[in-house]
Amino acid sequence: MINLNKFSSYFVANWKLNGDFNFIDQFLDQLKIPKNDSKCVVICPTSVHLNYISTKKKGLYLGAQNVSQYKSGAFTGEISCQSLLDLKVDFCIVGHSERRQKYFETEIDVNQKTQQLIDAKVIPIVCIGETLEDKENKRTTNILAKQLDDGIPEISNSNNTLIAYEPVWAIGTGLTPTLDEIYQTHEFIKNYDTKFNNFKILYGGSVKASNAKKIVSLSNVDGALIGGASLKHDEFGKIIED
Ligand code: PGA
Repeated sequence: MINLNKFSSYFVANWKLNGDFNFIDQFLDQLKIPKNDSKCVVICPTSVHLNYISTKKKGLYLGAQNVSQYKSGAFTGEISCQSLLDLKVDFCIVGHSERRQKYFETEIDVNQKTQQLIDAKVIPIVCIGETLEDKENKRTTNILAKQLDDGIPEISNSNNTLIAYEPVWAIGTGLTPTLDEIYQTHEFIKNYDTKFNNFKILYGGSVKASNAKKIVSLSNVDGALIGGASLKHDEFGKIIED
């Protein structure tokens, strides 16, 4: 398992269902990778493209977007933690809101996937966040508390798990919470239980070149999970630049 303590910040590109060989070749050719190797830059392509990137990447880490909660067996179409490890994948996003909403993933699924990944020595990046309705009904902290309680397994700690706070209403919308709101929410997560005090927490949701520096410079924000803007090498390059 990769040593999380050697990094000062994390920038995770979530490519979702985008990209092909041509796109990957151009992206990797043109992306400027920061000299500062305390920045951990992770690319999460489709599972089919993991191997292709693993043979080409330099100065980048590899992440998957999802994994099965089962070790092996009759689960057609699923991808195991062991197969991620075989491809030298260091990270895996778990419980992204698109998985929760479109594929009905539950906290139990998130918990089991996180546990399997830790056992396989792959770092889970567990996504939590409130919907707009939760926010409007002032239920954000209740929702986050439930996701932390039920989705994060006992064996998770600050050396083997990352948390990404992603307000669902901010994903792909161009909307973001204010800096103060992000700060307060990360503070809530870190202090929800002493267990979370030292966890690294990334922010995700409409991060782009024009807002990334301010968000990541908040003292309790340890990096960013980036969707749309991570598909443009120049935009993503600006987000990760020194
Ligand atoms: P976005 O997506 O940066 O396009 O808002 C973030 C995510 O889905 O993780």
